[in-house]
Amino acid sequence: LASSARTEVSNTSTFPRVSELADINWDNIGFSLVPTDFMYIAKSSEDGIFSKGEMQYFGPIQLSPSAGVLNYGQGIFEGLKAYRKADGSILLFRPEENAMRMRSGAERMCMPSPTVEHFVDAVKQTVLANKRWVPPPGKGALYIRPLLMGSGSVLGLAPAPEYTFLIFVSPVGNYFKEGLAPINLLVDDKVHRATPGGTGCVKTIVNYAPVLQAQSRAKAKGYSDVLYLDAVHNKYLEEVSSCNVFAVKDKVISTPAMNGTILPGITRKSIIEVSRSLGFQVEERLVPIEELLDADEVFCTGTAVVVSPVGSITYHGRRVEYGNNGVGIVSQQLYSALTTLQMGLADDNLGWTITV
Ligand code: COI
Repeated sequence: LASSARTEVSNTSTFPRVSELADINWDNIGFSLVPTDFMYIAKSSEDGIFSKGEMQYFGPIQLSPSAGVLNYGQGIFEGLKAYRKADGSILLFRPEENAMRMRSGAERMCMPSPTVEHFVDAVKQTVLANKRWVPPPGKGALYIRPLLMGSGSVLGLAPAPEYTFLIFVSPVGNYFKEGLAPINLLVDDKVHRATPGGTGCVKTIVNYAPVLQAQSRAKAKGYSDVLYLDAVHNKYLEEVSSCNVFAVKDKVISTPAMNGTILPGITRKSIIEVSRSLGFQVEERLVPIEELLDADEVFCTGTAVVVSPVGSITYHGRRVEYGNNGVGIVSQQLYSALTTLQMGLADDNLGWTITV
């Protein structure tokens, strides 16, 4: 081989360096990666028995160019948050729900997965190792990103022979650049996020890149994000690129039922339970786009977006704006009920939070 062809390429030059805590402006952290100190890694062969796992310095990982995740998208991820309380303790919100969702997603993607106990323990370890990066109370959260990927080599299409369970974290603030202000959504009925029989109900990495084009087009026109309709009738609500959607009309809250194409959001599920406990009627069903345009309020839910009020929806060139500048009373009430629980500001009678 010509020596030039064998030149070693340093691929670490663009790797984000661990940040300096002192450089962080906690009042304006947004939602982009702030590299932290440690990441957690455990491995499993096809037998599905994961190694105990260890904490490593946050940094590049080695993958074969023929890794299953790189070639065939055999990967899933999770997202959850840790909040710092005023007394310094750190709370996690329903981490076992993420663990169970990872397990069912892994089954769909033909991967072994860590047990619920392993998952929760690994999340706790990762948060504790990166404790200094949990934002001060009221300034955001530590976003926790567990990944499960086919890291073993394949060439023909087949499940990978080795799997990596990895967790990294980053402090975050608001997801949308609008902050807590209402977002403006464009309904794109030419692009579909999920199809019946597909993986819409699984938090797999392969559901996300396919919406980037529609999202970029919408953002270029000044919208915050895209709302997708169902692929069969092009009529019923599905989701926004990174979150579930709800409509409020006369004290009834409606959201698309989980029919295989809807991501089973943990915030979605929690908001449904909180709404019912506050006396709202919640309907999980097919929600036609016309109903959304006629709603009193619309909001989105997700771990990253929490509860985001929607200020306007544009569909086939018609823009509908929601009252009270988009911050509806119900959305505000649900946002407060959920976040006071997550941040440990209200009594957790439901047992949803755990101290790390
Ligand atoms: C989350 O809300 O945690 C997600 O995983 C969505 C992601 C696109 C940020």
